[in-house]
Amino acid sequence: MKELGNGKPSNKALLEWIEEQIELCQPDAVYWLDGSDEEDLELKRIAVEQGVLIPLNQEKRPGCYYHRSNPNDVARVENLTFICTPGEEEVGPTNNWAPPEEMYAKLRNLASGCMKGRTMYVAPYLMGPLGSDLSMVGVELTDSVYVALNMRIMSRMGKVALEHLGDSDHFNKGLHSTLDLSPDRRFICHFPQDNTIISLGSGYGGNVLLGKKCLGLRIASYLGRREGWMAEHMLILGVESPEGEKTYVAAAFPSACGKTNFAMLIPPAKYKGWKIWTVGDDISWMKPGSDGRLYAINPEAGYFGVAPGTNYKSNPNAMKTIQKDTIFTNVALTPDGDVWWEGMDDPAPQGTIDWKGNPWSPESGEKAAHPNSRFTAPMANNPDLAPEVNDPEGVPISAIIFGGRRATTIPLVFQAFNWIHGVFIGATVGSEMTAAAVGGMGQVRRDPMAMLPFCGYDMGDYFAHWLSMRHKIQFPPRIFHVNWFRKDEEGKFIWPGYGENMRVLKWIIDRCRGRSNAHETPLGWIPDSADFDLEGLQGFTRDQFDELQNIDLQAWKKEVISQDELFMKLYPHLPKEMIFQRELLISRL
Ligand code: GTP
Ligand code: SPV
Ligand code: MN
Repeated sequence: MKELGNGKPSNKALLEWIEEQIELCQPDAVYWLDGSDEEDLELKRIAVEQGVLIPLNQEKRPGCYYHRSNPNDVARVENLTFICTPGEEEVGPTNNWAPPEEMYAKLRNLASGCMKGRTMYVAPYLMGPLGSDLSMVGVELTDSVYVALNMRIMSRMGKVALEHLGDSDHFNKGLHSTLDLSPDRRFICHFPQDNTIISLGSGYGGNVLLGKKCLGLRIASYLGRREGWMAEHMLILGVESPEGEKTYVAAAFPSACGKTNFAMLIPPAKYKGWKIWTVGDDISWMKPGSDGRLYAINPEAGYFGVAPGTNYKSNPNAMKTIQKDTIFTNVALTPDGDVWWEGMDDPAPQGTIDWKGNPWSPESGEKAAHPNSRFTAPMANNPDLAPEVNDPEGVPISAIIFGGRRATTIPLVFQAFNWIHGVFIGATVGSEMTAAAVGGMGQVRRDPMAMLPFCGYDMGDYFAHWLSMRHKIQFPPRIFHVNWFRKDEEGKFIWPGYGENMRVLKWIIDRCRGRSNAHETPLGWIPDSADFDLEGLQGFTRDQFDELQNIDLQAWKKEVISQDELFMKLYPHLPKEMIFQRELLISRL
């Protein structure tokens, strides 16, 4: 067996585990990644040689590459994602469960000899800033050079991770093989007791970039419950006022419901002197600080963002971020070696090739880019990256915002009465399903705290964990709910969204700092139209604002009934507070 690369670790526990996996998978070569720039070039050379990556036009997009995944492998597969714990009860009714010994046996069988003729890339990675006690180390063994290159962008990969680990044996063990990409040999399995992840048969995003949803949320949420902290599917941003006052906000929206866009918001012209800093766009690890506030870090180092809909108007900072050193997956390819997707600033040039590699024209009626096509870009490219992103202490969170994609019923913004009510609001979030996961497009489903696909244990216990955190946080963040996606009778979004979401954010910040008014409604506190800034919002009327904020009592009674479906399912572990909150909501309605 050939050994390549300069990153071979000396940590004994780590080496022992890797040796076992080598024996199982039998790769022809092992590539010990160190995370250096030279190595990056070498991996890209290999990827191009294998046809895994296509170099893009290096004048227009220096350091950028293009990848097409297998058309059967374009999103997370929730039905093939398992949490394997000794007892089924622990994972609850919303996760797939399998007994660990049985699943290990099945996966070992599938993985046996799976890397013959292939290279095993050994990627040690650090989730979170170096030296933070919230940070965690994982090691991903993968036979995909694409995965190795993506992990390099998404995490602090290589030597830095080994440095953080030292001689400790506390690291996440991740094994990934694409096998032959056959969907009937595809399994994304978590073994929280062993801090282990095995992902087989896929090459796509959240299924295979093991630091992200697998360690970053499923395993981390499991550990967080045990150790008294929180792992959440949340962006983190900082709002800076013209006077230099900074307020930090975390927000949980389900997959493809606007986290990256909100995290990179640029305030409209009338908010002169205001600035939004991006801390993170997808995951937040949070822990009470010694000053009684809740502190958050972004464990990631890059953005795995939805491409369609990204343009210079909706998200200029994302467009600047993906100008260089970015990997594009399943977007369309233009004849001059650039990328294109639906919702880009200009129409597709003649001769554009679609995400499947076929010639494409607008008349075809097909999408040129897959709706879940993505860019992988280093956060360092973001012009408004918050410098605090590398602070081991994290940032103090003043507001937590929940949101979903809802065409009807849910107002633009309201505020919870208190923490317990806020947990109830988070627990009952509903959202139309998107292309980020296979199946169910457009149907409203409950997605509590945007964590339904990512919570590593029983969702009822998860609510109880949220409630119990209140006792550890002396100054809890205020909790809000937003909905950018309410539609009018013609099916058009009423709210302009994107940069204009600053107006909502401003009201939220002012609420946290005791500076803005609100009135009480059955749902929570809502801004008076006089307290909500609509100035300079062209073509948008107070009537439209009232339409956005309208609470239709009949629709809300139906909403409560549909919330009940999830509560019924979770009943065995559902905290009584959720039942009381439901009763109070009904009585207010
Ligand atoms: P994941 O990476 O899957 O977790 O998604 P995300 O939550 O980061 O979503 P993202 O910001 O990538 O947005 C997903 C889609 O929603 C894109 O097509 C956006 O254009 C669209 N979107 C985001 N913000 C808004 C908004 O304020 N209004 C409207 N109408 N659409 C939005
Ligand atoms: C999501 O689906 O929430 C994502 C994309 O952020 S993935 O990494 O594929 O999970
Ligand atoms: Mn996400």
